[in-house]
Amino acid sequence: MFLLKAWRATAFGAYGYLNFTKAGFQKHSKMFNSEDMQTKMEGNNCVVTGANSGIGFTAAHGLAARGASVYMVCRSKERGEAAVLKIRSMTGNQNVYLEICDLSSVSSIKSFASKFSSKNVPIHVLVNNAGVLENERITTSEGFEMNFSVNVVGTYAITESMLPLLEKAAPDARVITVSSGGMYMEPLTTDLQFSGAKFDGTMQYCRTKRVQVALTEKWAEMYKDKGIGFYAMHPGWADTPGVAKSLPGFSKALSGNLRTSEEGADTVVWLALQPKEKLTSGAFYFDRAEAPKHLMFAATGGSHVYIDSIVDNLRSLTSISCCSLSGAIRSEIEVLLGTVSLAWQLGNENKREFRLVRLSQNKVIFGVYIVRKVNPR
Ligand SMILES: NC(=O)c1ccc[n+]([C@@H]2O[C@H](COP(=O)([O-])OP(=O)(O)OC[C@H]3O[C@@H](n4cnc5c(N)ncnc54)[C@H](OP(=O)(O)O)[C@@H]3O)[C@@H](O)[C@H]2O)c1
Repeated sequence: MFLLKAWRATAFGAYGYLNFTKAGFQKHSKMFNSEDMQTKMEGNNCVVTGANSGIGFTAAHGLAARGASVYMVCRSKERGEAAVLKIRSMTGNQNVYLEICDLSSVSSIKSFASKFSSKNVPIHVLVNNAGVLENERITTSEGFEMNFSVNVVGTYAITESMLPLLEKAAPDARVITVSSGGMYMEPLTTDLQFSGAKFDGTMQYCRTKRVQVALTEKWAEMYKDKGIGFYAMHPGWADTPGVAKSLPGFSKALSGNLRTSEEGADTVVWLALQPKEKLTSGAFYFDRAEAPKHLMFAATGGSHVYIDSIVDNLRSLTSISCCSLSGAIRSEIEVLLGTVSLAWQLGNENKREFRLVRLSQNKVIFGVYIVRKVNPR
């Protein structure tokens, strides 16, 4: 195990230094096609999480500059408002809005999703960008380790909650999840909340970023008939407030050789703009091209088999699984009761499922429906 870890660290360091730095971007950008970025996005709705800073801010700016309506999901009203005003003034696009949501809280995500769903707008692009590298073991009020909470639970919960609105934008809808090259260092593990006695925040961050890649693969398989593309990407090593705060030594050592936020966000915007036929759902992208999910001889490939049990775990931890509302059941409820804006699976009991369905009409109505168990995929 020691040798394997040493190999992963060495391979990652060498591969990263050659590719993830500013020099790597400059090398790769020689292959870029500038026409790829000319697409206009008027009429498209984009939701970007963690949009007030770093890569999220730059991605939101890139989408707004091309005419999209952009919903910037931020946890701080103050930082969010400042970012919205800045993008409006930089782009002249007034269709840039602030949405408040703390991605470390399932309850905040549910409340955001419920409010947002009542707008009933199709979502063409969801960018799961909000992320943290928390070096200390911090447990959220809902009992989750912080890196896991934001990077995995938050990403899972917001994506599942937005599926009905993403489906409205099918076949063009897409979910872009900002992972990290750090995920190359860790295999997928079912120890989601780092049970080891000596907490290692960087290792835990890398593990959560590996989950995002495997989750993207799983979503692509689960929802292949829904007209939604799922893409994970990594930005390389970019000079952002997050990196300066969480990795000060790394940030200092690579000073001058880190990418700009624009360079880090480039592939996010590129993925949002490309025709779907050009992209592979479930794939991992870097610098406008598909990238390997595993380093050579790193023995991380086989671990992706754990994703099924991780998804089961996430469903039960969040009580969110919009996917298990089959089309037939959904339309049955829609016909009976109006527009289903959000559904939570509450649990299974034998072959029956209990669901709480919130309906958006003139007033909010809550109802519990007992329907026959449907295939959760
Ligand atoms: N920069 C890199 O080199 C690099 C490399 C690999 C991967 N990434 C990934 O890129 C993404 C963006 O990171 P960044 O480097 O741009 O860092 P950043 O500047 O710290 O941006 C992170 C964003 O996420 C938001 N956020 C954090 N926790 C949140 C929560 N609980 N609820 C809502 N929003 C929350 C932050 O909001 P606040 O301002 O309120 O904290 C901020 O807007 C992350 O997923 C990161 O893992 C970055």
